[in-house]
Amino acid sequence: MAARTLKPGVDAVGVLDWDKPLFDDLIPLPDGTSYNAYLIKGQDKVALLDTVDRAFCDELLANLAAAGVSRLDYVVAQHAEQDHSGSLPAVLARFPEAKVVTNQKCAELLKLHVHLPAEAVTLIKDGDILDLGGRTLQFIFAPWVHWPETMFTHLLQDKILFTCDFLGAHRATSDLFADDEPQAYPAAKRYYAEIMMPFRARMSGYIQKVESLGVDMIAPSHGPVYRRPQFILDAHKDWIADKPKNHALVAYVSMHGSTKIMVDRLVDRLIDLGVAVTRINLPTMDLGHMAMALVDAATVVIGTSTVLAGPHPAAASAAYVANMLRPKARFATVIGSWAWGGKTVETIKGMLGNLKVEFLDPVEIKGLPTEADLEAIDKLAATIQAKHAGL
Ligand code: FEO
Repeated sequence: MAARTLKPGVDAVGVLDWDKPLFDDLIPLPDGTSYNAYLIKGQDKVALLDTVDRAFCDELLANLAAAGVSRLDYVVAQHAEQDHSGSLPAVLARFPEAKVVTNQKCAELLKLHVHLPAEAVTLIKDGDILDLGGRTLQFIFAPWVHWPETMFTHLLQDKILFTCDFLGAHRATSDLFADDEPQAYPAAKRYYAEIMMPFRARMSGYIQKVESLGVDMIAPSHGPVYRRPQFILDAHKDWIADKPKNHALVAYVSMHGSTKIMVDRLVDRLIDLGVAVTRINLPTMDLGHMAMALVDAATVVIGTSTVLAGPHPAAASAAYVANMLRPKARFATVIGSWAWGGKTVETIKGMLGNLKVEFLDPVEIKGLPTEADLEAIDKLAATIQAKHAGL
């Protein structure tokens, strides 16, 4: 893929990874992803903003050659994670005159992850500027979206803010710009859910900061560039809002169908009562689907059969992931059927310690549900509806 121009003198030189099935061997990538790197040419100096995953370093170097780069003065490292730093050694081998411009924490992490020598680094502080000649970069430290060293870079004259992983999307697309907002929205929400949601408490300050800059473009390190910054900022404001929605996530696994009968009943009753439901069959689930439901859900219901005295591993995995993502849910519970005993409810409850939830009375039954068991499910549905009404 050749370099593509954001504004004259500012080119996207990163790569599209159309085929990667999983990010971090964890997160499904239905739309692939991109590793964005940006080339900024001043009258005096040339800077590259980030590199790409190591597997694509030849493509990055080819893009730089195609953009006419014969000398590179700076490589700005906004983030040390390897999808952006992996090609840094190859770039420095090709352009040994370049200095890596980054913060102290990022330099420490780059030393660990790509063995970057200290002498290659020029350290900057929060708010520092780098003059390229007619173009000025200003660095804005933004720790914990999503690593401790992450930072933004503001290209002042062109009003472009490079936001690193923040406000990104895992999406390989031929579109340089995210102008098709209905298409851009779900990919951005999925990305937020899977990667940024655990850090949402910090985000409102960063969103305010970005809004105060009044930029024309937001250029993240994954996915297309936003020419209408308010679109992605407003989406994030909704996702990080403290109040969850009238929405229940029912994630379940059923070995012989008894738990599924309970789930069928619960989902039907919740819908009857006006509660939006995302129902997920865990053994075949897409983790991103569950994570997206957790962005909004007020209630999380884990449905599970009992296996060898505990939850089915698929349910345990879902509880672990939900706990890791720290969603804003206010209520949680467990429903399920068991054959001869176990500690399923206690185990799942113990796995949700990061969630600030009220644990609703679980519905545990033996074997095939009876009418009385299903009435207990109806009661749970009514409780959930009432709790949501009181939010
Ligand atoms: Fe896209 Fe945190 O790396």
